[in-house]
Amino acid sequence: MDQLQTIDDQRAWSRAVHMAGKRIGFVPTMGALHEGHISLIAKARAKSDVVVVSVFVNPTQFDNPEDFAKYPITLDDDLAKLKAAGVDAVFLPTKEAMFPDGYCTFVELVGPLTDKMCGAARPGHFRGVATVVTKLFNIVQPDVAVFGEKDLQQVLIINRMAKDLDIPVEVVVGDTLREQDGLAMSSRNRRLSPASRQKALDLPKGLELARRAYKQGESTSLKLCEFVYNELLIHEGVEVDYCDVISLRGFEEKDIADDTCFIAAAAFVDGVRLIDHVHLAGPAISVAIDD
Ligand code: PAJ
Repeated sequence: MDQLQTIDDQRAWSRAVHMAGKRIGFVPTMGALHEGHISLIAKARAKSDVVVVSVFVNPTQFDNPEDFAKYPITLDDDLAKLKAAGVDAVFLPTKEAMFPDGYCTFVELVGPLTDKMCGAARPGHFRGVATVVTKLFNIVQPDVAVFGEKDLQQVLIINRMAKDLDIPVEVVVGDTLREQDGLAMSSRNRRLSPASRQKALDLPKGLELARRAYKQGESTSLKLCEFVYNELLIHEGVEVDYCDVISLRGFEEKDIADDTCFIAAAAFVDGVRLIDHVHLAGPAISVAIDD
């Protein structure tokens, strides 16, 4: 596995691959890798000849400096996992190379995709994501890039951005991987104590209860969100950042849910911010629920 530290080295590597007539699959990450990330690598491999993974904790997408400071960094472990996954190259740029002094260009989407959910709750977050992903696309020159459904709003934004800016990349979505008990895998889960992790389980549980209620005829969004609030708010130290029912058609909030909708929530569990969602007409999340 090649380790590329500079932008020039990554560019040269990608140029050589393209000269050889091969397709590049790309998985951008912020490290602290888990099986969810690894599953995206498998998806990228299936659609390309070589796979590049970037590991870069992007400072411009953190709205909260404390969250950035506490973001887990496990580089040695990440490199071992990437090697084991058969990745061809890992791109490890420095913050100074990506955002040198004087940096002042940003990519910003406007409208329904960014004005709600994490876009409303974390001002500047998606501007930081769109900017860094544009830069990574320009450097790595991927033919295919894989992003997780776990961050649904993010992948929709990146897909739209690539289209709008005529970036010649196919954006592909990978399924959300969950722990056995239903908690969506996330780098941030490492920051949960065993007690906090137990509370965190009520996020997928609340979403799954809402999905079941929808299946049984409940379509009032406020009622569906109540399932999430009721599960989470019984805990001390848990704060719900948002819970919304959104239609994939137009990405608008719906008072009355239909089969195009998903329910998404973000919560702080003892200070750790977690997000999750479920499609109301989609498959169940496998969580333990006492009927
Ligand atoms: P990060 O949180 O490291 O996630 C990297 C990729 O892994 C994203 O596409 C994310 O959606 C996906 N992912 C996270 N958890 C997953 C899970 N449980 N199952 C499947 N895929 C999962 O998302 C980012 O980094 C950054 O915003 C980035 C796109 C790298 C830009 O900085």
